[in-house]
Amino acid sequence: MPPASLESLSTPAVVVDLDVLERNIARMAARAREAGVRLRPHAKTHKCPQIAGLQRAAGAWGLSVAKVGEAEEFADAGFDDLFVAFPIVGEDKGRRLLALADRARLAVGADSVEGARTLAQPFREAGRSLDVVLKVDVGYGRVGVLPERAVDVARRIGAVPGLRLRGVFTHAGHGYGGETRAAVEEIARLEGERLAATAAELRAAGLPVEEVSVGSTPTAAAAMRVPGVTECRPGNYVFHDGSQVALGTCSLDDCALTILATVVSVPAADRAVLDAGSKTLSTDPLRPVAGGYGQLLGRSSRIEKLSEEHGVVAVAKGESFKVGERVRVLPNHACVVANLHDQLVGVCGDRVEAVLEVSARGKVR
Ligand SMILES: Cc1ncc(COP(=O)(O)O)c(C=O)c1O
Repeated sequence: MPPASLESLSTPAVVVDLDVLERNIARMAARAREAGVRLRPHAKTHKCPQIAGLQRAAGAWGLSVAKVGEAEEFADAGFDDLFVAFPIVGEDKGRRLLALADRARLAVGADSVEGARTLAQPFREAGRSLDVVLKVDVGYGRVGVLPERAVDVARRIGAVPGLRLRGVFTHAGHGYGGETRAAVEEIARLEGERLAATAAELRAAGLPVEEVSVGSTPTAAAAMRVPGVTECRPGNYVFHDGSQVALGTCSLDDCALTILATVVSVPAADRAVLDAGSKTLSTDPLRPVAGGYGQLLGRSSRIEKLSEEHGVVAVAKGESFKVGERVRVLPNHACVVANLHDQLVGVCGDRVEAVLEVSARGKVR
């Protein structure tokens, strides 16, 4: 059967340029090799075993995920080194993690002894231990212990029967607010330095620290080069998106994921409406500075308003749209777009080459 063309796809469709995807994967893998750190990509971005397979083939050490359900899905697909990079809490989760531990080398995040303790009992009863990585807040202000509390919390987690301290990790999500490249680089440097300093304090206190794990796409290149960092967990880099371009992480040519949409209405000269609304694009804002809900490739026009099924384009001066015309939209945030769809369409140029199943989507527990 000859490969279908892009034109034959029903819209809206999420399209992934496979050449750009593979180049992004190879580039980050090369960066990690040069920096001498292990790459453990965050699979929350694609939730797709086929893409994770490409990352593994390029040298990824294991995968990061955010949910126990995602870990289960990737273990089913044969991935055997998984880090749930989230403070997992709940006795039910502890039981599922014990079952998973038979199939994969496993670790989970934690930022409190109370939370980590909820996972310990099944491991203790089975005469086993669960690896725990302490989350440290290096400035994002979301989860994580402040560096000055790390020794105390790490010591108490490591003392819980059924748990074993593996190391420390952080995520500098505040890098997405950096309005200049220099600001992002500074956040990246501090991400690495603060986490490495925290690891040194833990070791000085006699605690074991095997892993010192940083990671976000805007900060990865600089943070992974800080001495003392052992692992990096970027996720978004496989696709990139409008926010990464605005942050200066990459150029437009490095964006692998776009949405193919159809113009379904042109009710006024300054307004066109696409069949891609918030159910396709999500409502995530452009970072670091808000600016619509998606950029139309090859045009200056942007999507300025969304409802569930409608993407309302503010038509830029000198541009026009026709009903039935197809456009490609660069989303603000590719990770949430992938999570909204069962399948991604892999293309080479205008040829459809593969259907990528987003099989770990919706695994929220
Ligand atoms: C804990 C953690 N690690 C790594 C990542 C990957 O970051 P990015 O999507 O910027 O690559 C995320 C993203 O949300 C995260 O929350």
